[in-house]
Amino acid sequence: MSKNRKGVAIFPGTFDPITNGHLDIIGRGLTVFDHVIVAILVNSEKQPLFTTDERKAIIREAFRGNARVRVDTFSGLLVDYAVKVGAGVIVRGLRAISDFEYEFQMALMNRHLNPSIETVFMMPAEHYSYLSSRLVKEVFQLGGNVHKLVPAVVERRLREKYRDALPPAAPPRRRSRVR
Ligand code: PNS
Repeated sequence: MSKNRKGVAIFPGTFDPITNGHLDIIGRGLTVFDHVIVAILVNSEKQPLFTTDERKAIIREAFRGNARVRVDTFSGLLVDYAVKVGAGVIVRGLRAISDFEYEFQMALMNRHLNPSIETVFMMPAEHYSYLSSRLVKEVFQLGGNVHKLVPAVVERRLREKYRDALPPAAPPRRRSRVR
């Protein structure tokens, strides 16, 4: 396969946080492209759980030792960022038909903005087709198990994030003696 790999692709997104579905797509991207740049959108409108720096550190840790994956941030137009880093391809994951309309719009808008940048869609493994960062946060917050849905570093960071958000434990109540 390595003989057929070509160039640099960008895998853009919010990644709040990265999930095993994203990891699956990056893995598939690496079977086609020499390098994948995971590009985190710095978006001042959204209220992310993890800061941009935290998301960057998390993804770096998830891919530690893999020289073919780079992690970066961008703002402004994605196609301009692609030109800046010398990437000819944008990779996006398609989980289900419900993703299609939004992705189709984005791909055609990006093509309108810069016809030399191609969008490539990849399907994750079927067992990730229901997975999203939003659901991971919701399930974790409500005490559900996200073990098989996110890399270990995300599980740890989620625990730290919600532990830090909790008010300090109240001191134990003294029982009044019954005489
Ligand atoms: O993980 P997400 O939130 O689905 O990722 C969306 C993302 C970051 C790929 C998209 O919002 C994006 O590319 N934003 C950059 C702004 C831009 O280029 N807009 C015009 C083309 S749609």
